[in-house]
Amino acid sequence: MVKVLLGIPRIGPPPALLRVALAVSCIARAHAADNVPSDATRALAEQHNCMACHCVTHRMLAPSFRQIAAHYAHQPDASVRLQRKIIDGGAGTWGNAPMPANTQITDAQAAALAAWILQLR
Ligand code: HEC
Repeated sequence: MVKVLLGIPRIGPPPALLRVALAVSCIARAHAADNVPSDATRALAEQHNCMACHCVTHRMLAPSFRQIAAHYAHQPDASVRLQRKIIDGGAGTWGNAPMPANTQITDAQAAALAAWILQLR
């Protein structure tokens, strides 16, 4: 009984959101597909699983990084806003699907990720 109770969260299927995200993950697609060279910030995005939901070029569950860059192109405070959203997560800007919080990401890392995304236009 104890084993069953404890075992369910670990052996059960992942939450639907994650399952969908992983099934169509951008990780599976080669970098060549989006023509964005590898660099330290891209590596950071991959390490923190951003590419499980976001592609650079096309929308999946989440907006593509290029869509985000275009959306905020004329907003001077975009980098601060995106830096906060990367750490705190949230929903409602692009639809109902939530962006999970990333409390393990530092302010400096989030700032680097936001700047990297915003220059991807
Ligand atoms: C589980 C899927 C998932 C993961 C993993 C994920 N995101 Fe998101 N992200 C989303 C969704 C969904 C949205 C749209 C949220 C909304 O509509 O407000 C989003 C939105 C964003 C936005 C735009 C925010 C806005 O307010 O316009 C940025 C920037 C972003 N994500 C960056 C990242 C970075 C960087 C990572 C990795 C640290 C990451 N995301 C990981 C799903 C994800």
